[in-house]
Amino acid sequence: MDLTDRPRRLRTDGVRPLVAETSLSPTDLIAPVFVDATTDERVPIDSMPGQERVPVSAAGDRVAEIEETGVEAVILFGIPESKDAAGTRAYADDGVVQRAARRIDAETDAYLVGDVCLCEYTDHGHCGILEETAETDPTLTVRNDETLDLLVRTAVSQAEAGVDMIAPSSMTDGMVAAIREGLDSAGFEHVPIMSYAAKYESAFYGPFREAADGAPAFGDRRHYQMDPGNRREALREARLDAEEGADVLMVKPALAYLDVVSDLRREFDHPIAAYNVSGEYAMLHAAAENGWLDLESVALESLSAIKRAGADLIVTYFAEDLAERL
Ligand code: PBG
Repeated sequence: MDLTDRPRRLRTDGVRPLVAETSLSPTDLIAPVFVDATTDERVPIDSMPGQERVPVSAAGDRVAEIEETGVEAVILFGIPESKDAAGTRAYADDGVVQRAARRIDAETDAYLVGDVCLCEYTDHGHCGILEETAETDPTLTVRNDETLDLLVRTAVSQAEAGVDMIAPSSMTDGMVAAIREGLDSAGFEHVPIMSYAAKYESAFYGPFREAADGAPAFGDRRHYQMDPGNRREALREARLDAEEGADVLMVKPALAYLDVVSDLRREFDHPIAAYNVSGEYAMLHAAAENGWLDLESVALESLSAIKRAGADLIVTYFAEDLAERL
């Protein structure tokens, strides 16, 4: 054969690493940690093998274990001791995330990201203050502008507790601008915001809602989270968040939305994050448990695909288990 171009020349073991286009490092990863104020034991999460809810007293130990694998950043989610209509435990100085952050800060060197949302803290499970007609009119569930004030209070109280980066996930219009202003006027102008800029109304969050006890009591999140079929709208959302001062732009979920990751990569100079969500984790584990897939291989391939699409950082439940392989 008279072939001049033979791509296979570059696929031998010796040269493959030299021409690799994508690399993964433990420092690209953020590991989620669930802190639970209702327990004093570490409780495994059934739908997410290997993940657990930890009491505040064990939060430092849990994060130290993650750090030992080489992962240097964690994102905190809280399960509060009580819930109410306004999610007051989200912005309490002695709230579960605030107490855990103080502890982790004192006991470890980890970089702490705080998820800022109200759905784990409201008794109705929605991500903000409800409209009076919310139960009967699912097209209008959450009051946008009244919710902003509570998100700002949550972000500031987390920063006061030692959280290093604020990650608002409620898809409230104007949330980045409001939080930026709130942080700045409280003296936290150096605390960055990683916005869940394009967060879809996705069924892949199922296991998380069990883990964090944050499923809506009625209706769904269509009124505030994005329609899974919309691609251009993600750019519009990201542009707004960038203009409002977001430092990092996130796409969520990751695997079913790699086109969106790629669009954001091309359009913005900001670091792009992707959230490899609970359902994506649970699917691979379930198949592996049946012997249908090799867990480590598919997990590595998934994270590599997310980076290839353009993500700089990945929030993933695989962080701890894969870090040692990287
Ligand atoms: C809070 C929040 C959710 C997730 C992260 N932050 C749940 C939701 O929006 O319903 C999901 C994460 C996952 O599924 O791993 N709003």
